[in-house]
Amino acid sequence: MPEYSATEAEVAARAIRDRTGSHATSIGIILGSGLGGLSRQIDEAVRIPFAEIPGFPAATVAGHEGQVIVGKLGGRQVVALSGRFHMYEGHPARLAGFPVRVFRSLGARELFVSNAAGGISEKLKAGDLMMICDHLNLMYQNPLIGPVAPDEIRFPDMTEAYDTGLRKALHAAAKKVGVELKEGVYAGLLGPTYEAPAEVKMLRMLGADAVGMSTVPEVIVARALGMRVAGVSCITNAAATAGAPPLNHEEVLATTARVGDLFQRLVVEFLAESATT
Ligand code: HPA
Repeated sequence: MPEYSATEAEVAARAIRDRTGSHATSIGIILGSGLGGLSRQIDEAVRIPFAEIPGFPAATVAGHEGQVIVGKLGGRQVVALSGRFHMYEGHPARLAGFPVRVFRSLGARELFVSNAAGGISEKLKAGDLMMICDHLNLMYQNPLIGPVAPDEIRFPDMTEAYDTGLRKALHAAAKKVGVELKEGVYAGLLGPTYEAPAEVKMLRMLGADAVGMSTVPEVIVARALGMRVAGVSCITNAAATAGAPPLNHEEVLATTARVGDLFQRLVVEFLAESATT
């Protein structure tokens, strides 16, 4: 049984380096459902399918390409994951967070996460981009359970999981691009069901602004490894409401397709901006 440990992350990182050469990676990027288009803007890109990386199962979700892409973006050396490992696919929390260990092994000290999410706050509508300020781990599992790497924090602090400096860089990038960047709390649920209307009411009472089925395990691992994190949710739909039309994955992908360009410009500008913070 794989443990998705630091040693396994080193093996995966070595396999990636064998293909790309030993660049010092500055930031890891995770591209959510329908947001993988950004990877096509990466210069000098080397694309490696998940199936060719030790410890990575193949991606199975529509809208997720299942590739690691190494190259240059926004003036920085990046490693991007187009697709990710969700717990609703049957993966353990440790695997959901494993790519972040690999990013760290490649040298990344920062993580940028993105996802598609349902809007809970009335201030959010489909097509909005929301900077994640904090999260609720409602997956009831934690990717740190298990062995601790030598440079890993056993009990990581989560008071500033989403880094203040990187949040400023995101705001500055949004201003340059001319996009209104909302802010809010992301609730991570296991899925794969969308929420019942009563659950959406509950999430609102708990303080969630948006809801999705990913991201939280990745951010937790990054914090345990001392990485600075920034995150953006693409609000693809209003979270379930009684009487509203049913939700489906096609609607999620249609919204990410509509907002994709703006999202890409925001991230490229953010990378340039955060390189100096
Ligand atoms: N709920 C959970 N995850 C999601 C949603 C949603 O409404 N939209 C996109 N991902």
